[in-house]
Amino acid sequence: MRISKKVVYLFAVLTSVLFMTGCGTSHQRIVRIGHNQSTNHPTHIALIAFRDYINENLGDKYLVEVYPSELLGSQTDMVQLTQTGAIDYCIASNAILETFGKNYEIFNLPYLFSSANSYHMAMDDSRITGPIFSSTEKAGFTAVTWLDAGTRNFYTVNKPIETPNDLKGLKIRVQQSPTNIEMMRLLGGSATPMGFGEVYTALQANIIDGAENNEMALTDNGHGDVCKYYSYDMHQMVPDILIGNNEFIHSLSPTEQEIFQKGYKLVNQIERQEWVKAVEAAKEKAVSQQHVQFIYPDQAPFVAACSPLHQSVLQNNPSLQPIYDAIQEYNKK
Ligand code: GCU
Repeated sequence: MRISKKVVYLFAVLTSVLFMTGCGTSHQRIVRIGHNQSTNHPTHIALIAFRDYINENLGDKYLVEVYPSELLGSQTDMVQLTQTGAIDYCIASNAILETFGKNYEIFNLPYLFSSANSYHMAMDDSRITGPIFSSTEKAGFTAVTWLDAGTRNFYTVNKPIETPNDLKGLKIRVQQSPTNIEMMRLLGGSATPMGFGEVYTALQANIIDGAENNEMALTDNGHGDVCKYYSYDMHQMVPDILIGNNEFIHSLSPTEQEIFQKGYKLVNQIERQEWVKAVEAAKEKAVSQQHVQFIYPDQAPFVAACSPLHQSVLQNNPSLQPIYDAIQEYNKK
């Protein structure tokens, strides 16, 4: 992917801001990690644990700093900054990564996993994730672990979604991914791709009629203040991915590699534990304080509408077939 002017600009701002604020001693290498969630979010909590772990174990050499809330730009910007080495790591939705490495499209397929259990088992299986996570080696980054981002569902300002037919004529924000745009086309809605940070204002200004995301978007991002209907059609389980700059990763000594690897595992474990609690709290808050109505539609018509996407993705990228088949094995369990 081409590096946009915006990223060059962000890089310039970043260099001066980080130069002024970096507080490591002269012999410490500052390791910068960016993400787009708030400081209450499981993602941030997990990255703070990573920061503390690395700083405790390798603090004489490295100083990890975590930048939340799109401080370093949107996810797309942050991936580009990670590619160039302007920052060392970032968390990006798997949806965004599809535009940097085609193989990532597999985890963006709607109704790929039959249950949360099968999703977790598949994502924990390095035979499934390995070929995808290392596929962006040439693009300058590698995925080092995944984070649970729950189930994505439609939510709207004022029209409950009971069937795909209800999406007709509605402008729905999707992530900037070709698979998501095609999914919306198949479901009959009008896809409006935009970055996560722009969604709240777009909902409020009636530029879009709704969006699709996990429950945390209602509370942590305030979308439930505007959208009063949340429909559990459960169309996707899209993981978030921690990616790191290759040059930085390769610069680590074998002992440091081992400690960083333990740190990545910690990110995965802590985020998943926190995720379960955070989703429960989000549901509770959405109902009691934001008065969001949860709807449980029949999923079958949504599944049927999306199914051609599996065939077209596999036809266009046959190397994904063995991975797809391995996921089906988990779906049967
Ligand atoms: C979730 C996900 C983020 C993503 C966002 C979005 O919150 O965890 O990584 O950016 O959805 O819809 O863009």
